[in-house]
Amino acid sequence: MDQAAGTTIVEAASEELQEQFRRDVLAGLSQQQKVLPARWFYDRRGSELFEEITTLPEYYLTRTETGILAERCPTIASLAGKARAVVEFGAGSVAKTPILLDCMDASSYVPVDISGPFLRDSCERLQHRYPHLPILPIEADFTRPVDLPDIVLEEEVLGFFPGSTIGNLQPADAVDLLRVMRGTLGNGSMLLIGMDLIKDRQRLIAAYDDASGVTAQFNVNVARRINRELGGTIPIDRLSHKAVWNDRLARIEMHLEAVCDLSFEVCGERFIMDSGETIHTENSHKYTARSANGLLLAGGWDPLACYSDKDAFFAVILASAITPGVTA
Ligand code: TRP
Repeated sequence: MDQAAGTTIVEAASEELQEQFRRDVLAGLSQQQKVLPARWFYDRRGSELFEEITTLPEYYLTRTETGILAERCPTIASLAGKARAVVEFGAGSVAKTPILLDCMDASSYVPVDISGPFLRDSCERLQHRYPHLPILPIEADFTRPVDLPDIVLEEEVLGFFPGSTIGNLQPADAVDLLRVMRGTLGNGSMLLIGMDLIKDRQRLIAAYDDASGVTAQFNVNVARRINRELGGTIPIDRLSHKAVWNDRLARIEMHLEAVCDLSFEVCGERFIMDSGETIHTENSHKYTARSANGLLLAGGWDPLACYSDKDAFFAVILASAITPGVTA
């Protein structure tokens, strides 16, 4: 393909993405409770801020999950069988992957991520560390069925879905996603999934409202992106970051709250917010060991073993694919 044609395809893809962004933002801001889909957080700046969040003292999730994996991966690998192909969903920076791979003798490693450039960089680094491991990246939205390469389908597969990313979906969507993963990974597959646990609300809220204000920056960044990419006039300094615990739905919600009455434009459309009104930007559902198991079972996965830390802050669960007609 010549250079000009290549360029056109990239532009067409990003034009389509821009159009989706525009539609999502205009639809979300027109609702009674204003919402913005969380996927639009992750432009370059958003991805950098998210990486920074994972190192914050208040953000216990990454540290705790990493600790559990470091301690338990030898057991997990021997339970699952070391020769499996490992398929990681939303691989991103693949930070936790070596902990698992070091304990396995994986037949191949297949990271699935929506961000191609990020994925390629990560794979390059991993290939250095594991020169003999076949690494087969797939650039795709993992909420839709993914076609695994034939050589992977011949093996038994271990899915890896860390970070409590499942918690960023509404329960019904989380069940759908688990079922899609069950379909993708096939009979005989297993899933290793990280899920954040319900704990005292001060600690939960602090993880999403840190003292140094990085999460606030991350949240506000989506409004900056709207202003930049969609010609918006949102007064950034009149929005304040808010993290609240919704006990009924067992989730942390992030909002952007208007500190006074506001009026602004996006793509030539006018929106108003009364003082105190919010834009709902993210959910992070939290689980008990039992509610986590219930979600997995509904999604077609039989929980075999649940590993946690000494404070019971976070759970890493190994589950096996339920075969239709066979009772869990
Ligand atoms: N899944 C993680 C969590 O819910 C990471 C995450 C997603 C996150 N969106 C976020 C963290 C927004 C902070 C803010 O914690």
